[in-house]
Amino acid sequence: MKLTQRPRRLRRSPQIRAMARETYILPQKLIYPLFIAEGENIKEEIEAMPGQYRFSVDRLDEILSELVGLKIGGVLLFGIPNYKDECGSSAWDENGAVQTAVKYIKQNFPQLVVITDVCMCEYTSHGHCGILENNDVHNDKTLEVLAKAALSHAKAGADMVAPSDMMDGRIGYIREVLDKNGFENTLIMAYSAKYASAFYGPFREAAGSAPSFGDRASYQMDPANGDEALREIALDMEEGADILMVKPALAYLDVLYRAKEISDRPVAAYSVSGEYSMIKAAAEKGFIDEKRIIKESALCIFRAGADMLITYFALELAKFIQDGEL
Ligand code: PBG
Repeated sequence: MKLTQRPRRLRRSPQIRAMARETYILPQKLIYPLFIAEGENIKEEIEAMPGQYRFSVDRLDEILSELVGLKIGGVLLFGIPNYKDECGSSAWDENGAVQTAVKYIKQNFPQLVVITDVCMCEYTSHGHCGILENNDVHNDKTLEVLAKAALSHAKAGADMVAPSDMMDGRIGYIREVLDKNGFENTLIMAYSAKYASAFYGPFREAAGSAPSFGDRASYQMDPANGDEALREIALDMEEGADILMVKPALAYLDVLYRAKEISDRPVAAYSVSGEYSMIKAAAEKGFIDEKRIIKESALCIFRAGADMLITYFALELAKFIQDGEL
């Protein structure tokens, strides 16, 4: 063998492996999703996501302190309202769960970047991501209510709003409304490449947001398509998105890689509920090594190009990093 053909030399010792390693994760790059319930004294485990909870705002302290202690970058908030109607009017209630949580977190845990999910599905009685007309989500009517919700989050003090509905033109529309109201500095994280995915199953139990009829295939993307994601990303950049997102993560690493190649902005990956629950369930059965799978999954998402990662394993990952295990 020629002397130039010996890559194994680089893997000979843990020290050299560490030195030559290409990907490291920082806790600052992790975002932890939080489900905020209306009401008091609620900390309720989500059945399909063992270890994840719905919290009322008065029970957030413990988890927020833990996140800050581990230097985790931020939180992504989802609201679980008590009241739902056809047009999802609780979504822009200034005293709603998300709005109240944003104020509370910005006041008491200013270290955390606060991002809010902007979508109608948790707030509508039919569970679709917008306003219905003839049993179909009406794009432009939905833009109006999304912008109202986003504005209410910005007013509460959110650093970033994250529209996850996949309507056409939502980024430009929301950007305009935010700017007109003096929120030029509120960022938009666009769920640009959001697939119509079965990996969201456990989330829909967590947030009570499963559609009461049909599915989301008419607005979310077809898992068979990659080029389409790049078109969505290009449009969202044009409309003023600050950060672009690919979701889910593990099954879509090619899309993530391509997104990173074409975008001139940070790209986020969202490792969704189904990815979490699959690992939890298999680990519980003893089929896999949970710790190693958590580390490997996150590393691969960063290797594929993610600048930041939204993950239900944020605490575990940050602890591994703190302990020098990742
Ligand atoms: C929509 C939204 C969903 C998720 C994030 N935002 C659900 C959906 O589109 O049905 C899924 C996140 C996850 O599965 O972890 N509000």
